[in-house]
Amino acid sequence: PGGARRDEAGHLVVGGVAATRIAEEFGTPAYVVDETDFRRRARAFRDDFGAPFRALGTDLDVYYAGKAFLCTAVARWVADEGLCLDVCSGGELAVAKRAGFPAARVGMHGNNKSSAEIEDALEYGVGRIVVDSFDEIDRVAAIARRLGVRAPVMVRVTVGVEAHTHEYIATAHEDQKFGFSLAGGQASKAVAEILAASDALDLLGLHSHIGSQIFDTAGFEVAAGRLFDLHAQVAADGHVMPEMDLGGGFGIAYTSQNTPMSAGDLGTGLAAIAERTCAAAGVAVPRLSIEPGRAIAGSAGYTLYEVGTVKDVELGGGARRAYVSVDGGMSDNARTALYGADYSCTMAARASDAPPMLSRVVGKHCESGDIVVMDEFLPADVRPGDLIAVPGTGAYCRALSSQYNHVPRPPVVAVRDGEARLIVRRETIEDILALDVD
Ligand code: LLP
Repeated sequence: PGGARRDEAGHLVVGGVAATRIAEEFGTPAYVVDETDFRRRARAFRDDFGAPFRALGTDLDVYYAGKAFLCTAVARWVADEGLCLDVCSGGELAVAKRAGFPAARVGMHGNNKSSAEIEDALEYGVGRIVVDSFDEIDRVAAIARRLGVRAPVMVRVTVGVEAHTHEYIATAHEDQKFGFSLAGGQASKAVAEILAASDALDLLGLHSHIGSQIFDTAGFEVAAGRLFDLHAQVAADGHVMPEMDLGGGFGIAYTSQNTPMSAGDLGTGLAAIAERTCAAAGVAVPRLSIEPGRAIAGSAGYTLYEVGTVKDVELGGGARRAYVSVDGGMSDNARTALYGADYSCTMAARASDAPPMLSRVVGKHCESGDIVVMDEFLPADVRPGDLIAVPGTGAYCRALSSQYNHVPRPPVVAVRDGEARLIVRRETIEDILALDVD
C-alpha cells in the first residue's frame, strides 16, 4: 500500500506503525488504513483532477463513493479534505449524519430508495438525489411537496457504455437495473417529467456511471459525448442544467499487472473530453462531478492475518502448492470469491531467505472457494504464527464483509505518523448473538 516500507528486522511498516505492533495491540485479522495515504489520494482528486476543469472556467466536485468503505472517521477525513460524499442507502446517510458531514455536500444514490430514505435525505438537506426510475420521480416529488421543499435531483442515465478494466463496450446492452435508457428515449422523458414537476423538483443535471476498475478514458469519452448531446437538447428546449456527473470507476493496482493513471492525468483527459464534447454540442461546460471510491480508499488499506496452518498439496507432475490458511477469509474479503479478484500478499513480521514456494492463501470458512490470494510466492518456511499482509483491501472489503460462519468482522485500525488508532472496533460473538431472539 501507499506508504508501506520494511524496517531492518523485515517488519512491514505502514504509516510509521509496524504490522507486528498492530497485531499485538488489536489482534488479527485486522483491516489497516493509512490515513495519510487516504487523505493524499482524496486531495489528489480534488486538486490535480480538478485543476484542468478550473482552467476551463468551471469547477469539479469530487464525491467520495462511501460504498467503497465508510465509517464515521472516514467520513470526517473526506469532509476535512473538502470533498463531497456519495451515499447509496439510509445506512450510509446515517454515517454521514453521525460524522456531521455538511448536508449540502452529500449526494444520494440508489435504484430503490425507500420513502423513509428519501424523506431522511430531504430533511437532512442533501445537495442532490440521483433519481433512477419514474416511480422514484413521483415519490421524491410527493415527499418534497409534503415537506415543503424543492428536491435537487439528477437523472441517472444509462448511456450504453460498459467499461471493464482496459476494455469498454460502447453499445453495451441495456439489460440491467440502473438508470433511464438514453437510446430508448426514457432519459429525455425523465427530464421532461422532472421539469413538469418543477414546483417540487429542481433539475441539476445528468449522471452516468459506466463501470469500475477502469484504466483509461475511452469509455468516459463516449459516455460524456452522449450525455452532452442530451444536455444540449434540454438546453435548446430552454433549461440549462448547471451540473453533470460522470461517476466513478477509476482503477487501482491490485497487482503489478495493473497500471492506473494518475488523478492529474485522468483529470486532464476528462477535462479535454468535456471541452470537446461540449463544443460539439454547442453548450457551455457545466459544473462537473466525479465519484471515485476505490481510487481513494483501495490502495490506502491492507488486511493483516495470522497464519494458522500450512498444507503442502501435490498438484501432479512434481508440482506442489502450499495452502496457507489464515484467520479470516471470504467473510472479510469476498472479492476473490465473488469476482475472481487478483490480490498479492507479503510476509509482514519477518524477512526470510527461504526459496519462494507457490502458495495459495485461504481463509477459515467452510467452503473451498474461500480464497484470499489465488497465487503468490511465499517463502518456503512460512509457518503458523507468521503474519501475512494483503495490500489493496481498502475498498469493497470491509464494505462487502459478512458474518459468514458466525465469524466476527475484523476491526479497522487507522495508522498515521507512527500512531495507530481504532476507527471501527472488532465485532464480537456477543454482537452477533445479540440479534438472536429467544
Ligand atoms: N458511483 C456510482 C453510481 C457507483 O455505482 C459506484 C460503484 C461508484 C460511484 C464508485 O465506483 P469506484 O470508483 O469505487 O469504482 N463491489 C465491487 C464494486 C462495485 C461498484 C459499485 N458501484 C468491487 O468490489 O469491485
